[in-house]
Amino acid sequence: MTYRALIRPILFALSQGDAERAHVMALEAMKLMQRAPLFLSLIAWHCQANKQQPVTHYGITFPNDVGLAAGFDKNGEVIPFLQALGPGFLEIGTVLPKGQPGNPRPRMFRIPEYDSLINRMGFNSEGADVVRRNLQRWQSSVKIPIGISLGKHKDTAAEVEPLVQDCALTLALLREFADYWVINISSPNTQGLRGLQTKEYARMIARGIVQVERGFALQYNEPPKPVLIKFACDMAETDMLDAAEACRAEGVSGFVCTNTTTQRPFVGKMPPHAEEIGGLSGPLLHDRAVRAVDMLRKQDSKALIIGVGGIRDFPTAQHFRDVGADLVQLYTGLIYEGPRVIRDARGLLQA
Ligand code: FNR
Repeated sequence: MTYRALIRPILFALSQGDAERAHVMALEAMKLMQRAPLFLSLIAWHCQANKQQPVTHYGITFPNDVGLAAGFDKNGEVIPFLQALGPGFLEIGTVLPKGQPGNPRPRMFRIPEYDSLINRMGFNSEGADVVRRNLQRWQSSVKIPIGISLGKHKDTAAEVEPLVQDCALTLALLREFADYWVINISSPNTQGLRGLQTKEYARMIARGIVQVERGFALQYNEPPKPVLIKFACDMAETDMLDAAEACRAEGVSGFVCTNTTTQRPFVGKMPPHAEEIGGLSGPLLHDRAVRAVDMLRKQDSKALIIGVGGIRDFPTAQHFRDVGADLVQLYTGLIYEGPRVIRDARGLLQA
């Protein structure tokens, strides 16, 4: 309540309608706050539920099933702060081997009429070296699993081999810090990327990354880390099922469902910014993301499936659980509902 009534209006007003500015300001505030352990304890007290409900999938124990989706902390800068909000896991990135600025600004837009966002960030990343330093810094204090989202540079050809090479470079640099990997071939903001979601391309990409991961696992004499693929809900259903099946045959452990949509399912008059180019996130994505998870689960009872899209409270998280998601994630719900959204999505009362 405090967040919606007080903090959110101040943050939105201070950023003068520039959604990315609000995000940068929030990150800066988080960086400051995470330097004070007492502050983090206060935040944890405010945000966390009294009871954890651990779940184990593919050998990884998650303290609870609600995580923060990729894109919020692209460089692993605010992990201690985010951990204090009580998620069961964090997904960092999308990370690229080298830094790149992403698309020109403005590139993130709020659509408050629908509690939604449109973004065309275009993989702004500090690069894997910087992310590595950040993860090293937090290593001793990180208590929850960390997923790392892998992507390709703008200038890397949108083809199988070059993409696998980019992802493999990041994987090699960050491997000791990751609990699972996500191959992001579903961002709408990198030209040609979504074209790689077809069955044959996805199969070859999956094969390439799984091989790299297995090579490292062999070298270090440890079990390979799960590799997941993130799909867009804009794929035709049969295409997603075919691609998923092909990826599983190559040793992929599961799927993150889904990334943002390029569709604009607004009803009636278009709100301001609704026609900006980019991916739409938030409630308008929800039903389609749930449908995608439902479909994938019916095809495959063993895959690790992370449901994401429009989660903002317990019922919306529950929709994904009801159709068989093992874990859920959110991003836009955090912007509109505030830090307690994670606790709400878990559905537990505070101590
Ligand atoms: C994202 N998302 C995203 N996903 C990803 O795999 N890599 C990324 O770098 C990003 N970046 C990103 C930036 C911004 C500003 C937004 C809003 C979203 C997509 C995100 O992880 C998620 O799949 C969608 O936003 C749908 O979930 P929500 O936001 O409706 O909970």
